[in-house]
Amino acid sequence: MSDFEGVSVLVTGGSRGIGLAISKAFAERGAKVTMMDILADHADEAMAATGHPDRCRFVAGDVSDADSASAAIDAAVEHGGGLDVLVNNAGITRDTLLMRMKDADWDQVMGVNLKGTFLMTKAASRRLMKSPRGRLINIASVVGMTGNAGQANYAASKAGVVGFTKSIAKELAGRGVTANAVAPGFIQTDMTAELPEGAAERLMSLIPMSRLGTVEDVAEVVVFLASPQAGYVTGQVIPVDGGMVM
Ligand code: NAI
Repeated sequence: MSDFEGVSVLVTGGSRGIGLAISKAFAERGAKVTMMDILADHADEAMAATGHPDRCRFVAGDVSDADSASAAIDAAVEHGGGLDVLVNNAGITRDTLLMRMKDADWDQVMGVNLKGTFLMTKAASRRLMKSPRGRLINIASVVGMTGNAGQANYAASKAGVVGFTKSIAKELAGRGVTANAVAPGFIQTDMTAELPEGAAERLMSLIPMSRLGTVEDVAEVVVFLASPQAGYVTGQVIPVDGGMVM
């Protein structure tokens, strides 16, 4: 799967974790990668971590802000000579039980995870339609399908991402653009490092493969969905979860 020479890819939340691994996986295959992130402090470090900083461009921006979203798409078009692949990966958690959940916890998670996905996709849609192989890949989560105590806001946002993805798949299928979601299970990143003590062990007992996922496990599935080989796959949610949800 090295059919990415010169392909223009935009990855949101690209400066660390799963987004960085996705950026690296595309850059290694010759893609022109635009990494957008609200965290701009480690821009050079993040681009260097892909192993191909010359193929990368970093854009500071907030996916939940419409102007920021358009600016990131423009930057990707400039860097890559168009836009072929959009990976909506930026996401946040504000975990707490419903009784303690503040309006702000709800709004922030919805704003980044769901509205951010909408704003980025809307800003990118014309460009993706112009691409000979437009691809939209949204990072959802298995909890969007199963629910999770303490994550009502996050699970709702990810369920929303699934409904959004399927709708866009139907809207853009006739324009040659595929839209799919990848639903990671429990992946080792900064996001999961914040889990309360003991929670990780309890979750691991629910994973048939008895290991946490790696960021590469997720990135490789994203690359496949963006490849020409996946051209007839659209509107799907692909879990990458070691068998947690089946
Ligand atoms: P992370 O917290 O390590 O990285 C997320 C990145 O998104 C960070 O670089 C952050 O600065 C950026 N970001 C946050 N808000 C942003 C905004 N408003 N605009 C632009 N960038 C923003 O998280 P991780 O674990 O790499 O997660 C990536 C995606 O995978 C998220 O959508 C997350 O919900 C999803 N996911 C992660 C799982 C896990 O086990 N780590 C499981 C299921 C889904």
